[in-house]
Amino acid sequence: MIVLGIESSCDETAVGIVRDGKELLGSVVASSMDLHAQYGGVVPEIAARSHIEAVLPAIQQALHDASCTWNNIDGIAVTQGPGLLGSLLIGVLTARTLAITKNKPLYAINHVEAHLYVNFLTESRLPQITPRKNQPSFPLLGIIVSGGHSQIVYFRDHSDYELLGQTHDDAIGEAYDKVAKMLGLPYPGGPSVSKLAQQGNPHRYTLPKAHMSGKYDFSFSGVKTAVLRLAQQLVGGDFMLPSIELPHLLSQSQKADIAASFAFTACETIVDKVLLAYKEFSPQSIIIGGGVAADRELRRQLEERLPCPIEYPDMKLCGDNGTMIAALGCFEAMRNNTQANPYTLEAMPTLSM
Ligand code: KG4
Ligand code: ZN
Repeated sequence: MIVLGIESSCDETAVGIVRDGKELLGSVVASSMDLHAQYGGVVPEIAARSHIEAVLPAIQQALHDASCTWNNIDGIAVTQGPGLLGSLLIGVLTARTLAITKNKPLYAINHVEAHLYVNFLTESRLPQITPRKNQPSFPLLGIIVSGGHSQIVYFRDHSDYELLGQTHDDAIGEAYDKVAKMLGLPYPGGPSVSKLAQQGNPHRYTLPKAHMSGKYDFSFSGVKTAVLRLAQQLVGGDFMLPSIELPHLLSQSQKADIAASFAFTACETIVDKVLLAYKEFSPQSIIIGGGVAADRELRRQLEERLPCPIEYPDMKLCGDNGTMIAALGCFEAMRNNTQANPYTLEAMPTLSM
């Protein structure tokens, strides 16, 4: 079962080809990130236009890399949501058209759920991507930490899951990006904060962790505001001091200590809840996905505090990619799950798990 997956929910036009949900055959990620950098965030119209230009070349390249022709492809999977409407539309319409013209089954994929599915890859034809040694076992806990989501999900089996908790405001990646702006770090902010944090003292400043009424829920807007107040105070300003002034007034070592203290607290917030869920559900495996899964502090804390071993996906598969869509698509196809109608499938920007 070979599935071609198309991802276009945000600023990455990505295509992956996966066999049997476990073998990576091809993966192409074309990002329009550079075009957004000057605006400090993704501009939806620019992202949508870039998808139009990039999607067909990305598909051709992925087929070429995987040494496949359309004859070898058994199904097409596409991100249906959540994401930016204009961006999603390009992927969905491309997949619908190909499903009709190439006469292939079509699978509509939830982007957030798919982030976890790179953990099922145990073989890779691409030398630059290292797969995991073992596939995870059910029941499992899935942790999704991205720019749009922070959630813990309990999976009894494929397609059989329960959302235990999620953020009530900012996602963890969003908080990383906003802290990066306060510190004047280059776009995209998450990786920049993560890198600078390695040079700072994570215990230099104590930042607050939100206590939520939902046992497994999160909030990251408080810690983000606490970072702003701390930085204003360190440079001798009050809460009226615009955050745009901060990068020039903070010293390099203050920035590194703020980044480290923030990353420490944000990751601890996640790991606290993962430990709680581990005790309650005794899962066979814990898997993690989404852009922030590449953060070294998060991986360090998970390894230090979890009572069980944890395997991570390749860093290059943590952010948005088409491989995760193809991997989940394989499982949908292998389990004979409902196919999407290529004449009617619609993008769903607010799709949730
Ligand atoms: O999964 P993803 O690529 O897109 C969404 O589905 O949102 O996640 C993007 C988020 C951004 O907020 C980005 O800053 C963050 O993941 N991110 C990181 C790292 N790499 C990406 N955050 C912390 N450390 C990283 N190494
Ligand atoms: Zn994502």
